[in-house]
Amino acid sequence: MSEVLLAGVTHYPPLSMPDSLMADILRRTLADPSIPQLEKDPARWPQHMHDEWGHDEGLASAAVHRAALVAGLGRVREELDAFQPDLVLIWGDDQHENFHEDLIPPYAVLAYDDLTVLPWAQAAASAMTAGKANVWDEPPTQERLIKGHRTAARWLVEELIGEGFDVAYAYRQLHHPGLSHAFLNTVLYLDYERTGFPWPVVAMPVNCYGRKVVGARGFMTRLDEHPEPDPPSPSPSRLMALGGAIMRAAQRSPWRIAMIASSSWSHAFLCDHTWRLRPDTDADRNLYDALVAADYTKWESVSLDDVERAGQQEVLNWCILLGAARAAHAEVSWSTFIETSCFNSNKVFALWNPIERT
Ligand SMILES: [Fe+2]
Repeated sequence: MSEVLLAGVTHYPPLSMPDSLMADILRRTLADPSIPQLEKDPARWPQHMHDEWGHDEGLASAAVHRAALVAGLGRVREELDAFQPDLVLIWGDDQHENFHEDLIPPYAVLAYDDLTVLPWAQAAASAMTAGKANVWDEPPTQERLIKGHRTAARWLVEELIGEGFDVAYAYRQLHHPGLSHAFLNTVLYLDYERTGFPWPVVAMPVNCYGRKVVGARGFMTRLDEHPEPDPPSPSPSRLMALGGAIMRAAQRSPWRIAMIASSSWSHAFLCDHTWRLRPDTDADRNLYDALVAADYTKWESVSLDDVERAGQQEVLNWCILLGAARAAHAEVSWSTFIETSCFNSNKVFALWNPIERT
C-alpha cells in the first residue's frame, strides 16, 4: 500500500482574480519611479515578454496562463482524489502574515484544530488582494472549513525533534485569523472547481523571505528602498535535510500523507537584475532540469545568495520537497514548467510516484 504522495503546486495570488487583474504586479512595478523609464518600454523587452504583453497589456495571455495553471492544479487534484490521504502536509511561505516582528521561526508546524476561515474578508487585509474581485464571485461573508489534524501535527513535531530538527509549533494562530495565503490558496486552488477539499491540512510555514520578511514585509518595495535586512532564511541544503527527516518520519507513521510544496518559482518583484520586471527564467530552468533529472546534488549546491539573486526565495519550500523525494528515492511521474514574463513568476507543477511504506 502506498503511503506518501509528493507534489508541487503554485499559490500565485492573482490566479484568484479576474484575468484583467492578473498582470497587476507588473503594472505596480512599472509605476515604480526608481526603475529607469527605458527598461519599462515594451519595445525593449525580450521577445517572450513583448509577445505576452501584446496589445492588451497581457489580457489575452492571462487567459492562456490561467488555463495552464488550472490544468496543472487539476492534475494534482486528480492524484489527491486517487490517493485519498489522511492528511495533507503543506510547505508554504509566510509573508509577514501570521508571523511578524514578535516571532519569525525558520519553520514551524501549525497544529491547529478545524478552522473556519473567511477567505475574502481576510484577503481584504492583504496588500496583494485588498479590494480585488475573486474569480468565483464569492462574497466577503463566504466561509470555508479547513479541517486540521492536531494529532498528526503533534506527532510530526515529536518526530522532527527526534531527528535533530528542533521545530517550533503552535496550537493557534498568532497574527493571521485563518491560514496565510500560501496555505489557503493551495486549498482554494486545489478546489478550483468548488467540489470541496475533504482532507485535513497541516500547514508548515517556512521563512522563505528571510532578509526581506520584516523590513520588506515579505512583499514589494520600491527598487530604491533598502530596508535593513533581517537575518537570513534557512539554506537550501538545510531545508532538503529537513525534508528527508519528514519523509523518514512519514514512512514510520500510521497515516497516508500527501506532502505539497506550494509556491511559484523566481518572482519578478524579488529579482533586481531584471529590474523586477520579469522572473529569472534561466535560473528556474536550471533548477527544473535538475528536478526532472533527480539531480539532488545540483539542488543542494544552490546557495542562499543564489536563491536571493534569482528572486527564488519561495523555491525554498520546494527544497523540502526535493529533500523528501531524495530520502525516498521517489521518481517524478509528471511535471510541467509554465513560463511567463508578465505574470510575475514561472510556475512548476510536479508529482512523484506514490511511495510505499519501508
Ligand atoms: Fe507566497
